Amino acid sequence: MKKQILVTGGLGYIGSHTVVALLRAGYTPVIVDNLNNSRIGILNQLEEITGTMLEFYNINLCNKPAVAELVAGKPELQGVIHFAAHKAVGESVAEPLKYYANNFESLFSVLQAFEGRQLNLVFSSSCTVYGQPDTLPVSEAAPVKKAESPYGNTKQVAEEILQDIAKADELKNIISLRYFNPVGAHESALIGELPIGVPQNLVPFITQSAIGKRGSITVFGNDYDTPDGSCIRDYIHVVDLAEAHVAAIQMQEQGDADNNYDVFNIGTGRGYTVLEVIKAFEEVNGVKLNYQIGARREGDIEKVWGDTTKSKQVLGWEAKFGINEMMESAWKWEKYLEQNEIH
Ligand code: WQD
Repeated sequence: MKKQILVTGGLGYIGSHTVVALLRAGYTPVIVDNLNNSRIGILNQLEEITGTMLEFYNINLCNKPAVAELVAGKPELQGVIHFAAHKAVGESVAEPLKYYANNFESLFSVLQAFEGRQLNLVFSSSCTVYGQPDTLPVSEAAPVKKAESPYGNTKQVAEEILQDIAKADELKNIISLRYFNPVGAHESALIGELPIGVPQNLVPFITQSAIGKRGSITVFGNDYDTPDGSCIRDYIHVVDLAEAHVAAIQMQEQGDADNNYDVFNIGTGRGYTVLEVIKAFEEVNGVKLNYQIGARREGDIEKVWGDTTKSKQVLGWEAKFGINEMMESAWKWEKYLEQNEIH
């Protein structure tokens, strides 16, 4: 099998979109997922989108022996994209041990399975490591700040661990991708962000409110120091985000990187306020949203958007889709869920 890439969390929101992008780029993804935050049906959807039977292992990555056995049986693995982690900010505050144990043990399982072996690893990190940046747009050189949540801290500490490992072991080539706010869905509307419980994130709440599954949207504060008072974020289409992972794998394959650890911002470089997102959704989809202004949400930072110069110049990647495509694809996906009674 050519150019096999292990994709942990490969049936998840970003993982599934990355599987599609990897196949298109000529790679063979090998999916590992324990279905903790995804559905086995996504595997069928992926096979429908790609026309390819996919290799899938239902393994909990905290099960070190199982991960070691899988990796030992695949000497031809060219790289790993590590998505698998718990990622709900609020839940991490309530259950820190669940987050530290799962997110670190799963990462260690992968790293220990590759002890003594060449490993090209792309790690799923987050702009949350910047906290509220002092200057905007925020570049990769900006200081990492004390995380606002255990979830954010698992990303920060994982980056430090990976940097130390790369420094100590020349067989390890590691890239951390700091995502801004992933939104939207594949054009086929066969994969997208899966609704598990009440969405904490803005865009899935918008689409569920629009389709009638939720009540009105609360805009968490309009008294921030921004043009319309609501928070600013750098929303990025999940398909663009998936392509960034392929670019990272290709960069590692070329092997001409200056060093064996690097970090890249994966955003559009453009920020939108909450009210601008709501307006864009209404305009591009011709849907009137019900929303009201409410109190600020604890832990929210005021404004952040990424400096994507390094990603363009070094990674050779930049986002292609704008807010309209993000909102259009998110709405198409919500309607697919409704039509197929996926709840
Ligand atoms: C975006 C904006 C809210 C819901 C988090 C994590 C980040 C990543 C993405 C995992 C904020 C406002 C939201 C609502 C609102 N997670 N909002 N009403 O908090 O920027 O990022 O999710 O990788 O690591 O930190 O995303 O979508 O929750 O919020 O007004 O009902 O929308 O206040 O300003 P966030 P979000």
